[in-house]
Amino acid sequence: MNRRVAAPGRVNLIGEHTDYTGGLVMPMAIDRSTRITFHRGSDRVHLASVDEPGVVDLPLAPADPAAVQPSWGRYVAAVVAEMAPHDGLRGHVSTDIPIGAGLSSSAALEVATALALGFRGTAVELAQLCRRAEHRATGVPTGIMDQLVIAAGVRGHALMIDCHTLDYTPVPIPREAQIVVQFIAHRTLEGSPYTERVAQCAAAEAAIGPLRLATPELAAAIADPLVRSRAVHVTTENRRVLSFADALRAGDLTAAGALMVDSHRSLRDLYECSTPAMDAAVDELCATPGVYGARMTGGGFGGCVVALAEPGALTTGWVVSAVDGAHRA
Ligand code: GLA
Repeated sequence: MNRRVAAPGRVNLIGEHTDYTGGLVMPMAIDRSTRITFHRGSDRVHLASVDEPGVVDLPLAPADPAAVQPSWGRYVAAVVAEMAPHDGLRGHVSTDIPIGAGLSSSAALEVATALALGFRGTAVELAQLCRRAEHRATGVPTGIMDQLVIAAGVRGHALMIDCHTLDYTPVPIPREAQIVVQFIAHRTLEGSPYTERVAQCAAAEAAIGPLRLATPELAAAIADPLVRSRAVHVTTENRRVLSFADALRAGDLTAAGALMVDSHRSLRDLYECSTPAMDAAVDELCATPGVYGARMTGGGFGGCVVALAEPGALTTGWVVSAVDGAHRA
């Protein structure tokens, strides 16, 4: 009998490049998802994709997940390698998450694969397993935000995640707010300066201790100018997440939008992970009547921008709503 699992994509509202130093983030799971229809009871993992070329056909202990072809199979193989299941599956994958657009299509595939392979455990354990898989598949030292919000999302809410304790708190998104995502450019974090940013944060922590505990004032005293800029971004961004949660809870969309714009400027000027096309899109969005604020979202160097707007204010882009996390369907 065919079974089904589904895992949503995500958009991050605020709290960018903070997760891998144990900081605060506020993403939401979105109403676009990756689905796997399958049956169990095979000694291999065999998946075809409706949207991507090639067929993934793996043993239950794949030797080198990062080398698997077609390349989307790397994520599947890395999850299989992490789980070492006794029993495989045969089925197909389909998705309406734009692939390679920065909306976590790869993390959704990881989480869906783990559920299809019979993962049992908490949302945090599922996210931890899939984060390890992402590292195996790509070698990029990403944080836990994407996998955790995909595993634990709550309908109608963003999730404020403390990436150190892994506690998460659903924060209601006011009904009179619309979240709109605009695609700017395809990107992959492999080969991007993402890994270098992670290293710069480590250098900042070697100088002043954990960034999640540091104040912007402490960060501003770091001698190396680049490391200082990165640390000032992270420490101010952590504060913006808390203020953003307060603004959403108070229904103060003007304040929430202004914090998104501050976040964007910090990512552009201090973290240097935006692009001219993303900056232009954010400027244009912010000049549109009914838009409270906008920013780049995700790892940057391409991907998407996200806007907080009055319903109907924007006619281009995808209106997304917050949905529950991954599940067996
Ligand atoms: C990517 C990573 C996340 C996070 C963001 C930046 O999406 O997968 O872990 O670091 O970039 O906030």
